[in-house]
Amino acid sequence: MLIKLVPSANAPLDLLLEADPSADNIRRYLENSSCYVATIGNETVGAYAIQSMGGGVHELMNIAVAPAHQGKGIGAKLLEHAVNSTRERGARRLELGTGTFGYQLTFYQRAGFRVIAVERDYFLTHYDEPIYENGIQHKDQLRLAINFDRALY
Ligand SMILES: CC(C)(COP(=O)(O)OP(=O)(O)OC[C@H]1O[C@@H](n2cnc3c(N)ncnc32)[C@H](O)[C@@H]1OP(=O)(O)O)[C@@H](O)C(=O)NCCC(=O)NCCS
Repeated sequence: MLIKLVPSANAPLDLLLEADPSADNIRRYLENSSCYVATIGNETVGAYAIQSMGGGVHELMNIAVAPAHQGKGIGAKLLEHAVNSTRERGARRLELGTGTFGYQLTFYQRAGFRVIAVERDYFLTHYDEPIYENGIQHKDQLRLAINFDRALY
């Protein structure tokens, strides 16, 4: 598997929609994000987008693996790449926002992310359509982070 940085204009929107149902949101944050794409042969199997928020804090805006390739460790490799590339840039912290339930929480915490905050009603106020998973509506957002600067612990 190859992971490489691509111009935002070449970001695989269909794939990024797996993680964020709003194409408008994705287009907006892609403008200021670095997008990395994972390929196996000619096939795009995964992608992530990361953005500098200032003050040494970076945010993982989106991470997605093509449905046919999920559950095979590709996401874990992409996440490790995201963590390492951010650390190598000299960042102090990598943050992300996710739902308050679902397998994604295990996925992130296994990679070392910890909960730093809860943003109540985030999914109600930032999306036009309700978002359901396992029959439960996503309402609140968990903020997770991995700190590279030991002083932040
Ligand atoms: C989250 C995601 C990037 C993880 O990538 P992945 O390649 O599937 O991840 P991995 O194979 O490294 O492992 C992820 C874990 O989640 C599980 N998992 C993956 N896809 C799953 C699914 N659709 N339903 C339930 N569990 C799933 C895997 O089984 C694995 O757990 P295990 O090791 O205990 O079996 C990917 O599943 C995805 O694109 N999901 C849809 C988009 C999304 O939710 N993005 C994150 C937004 S916060």
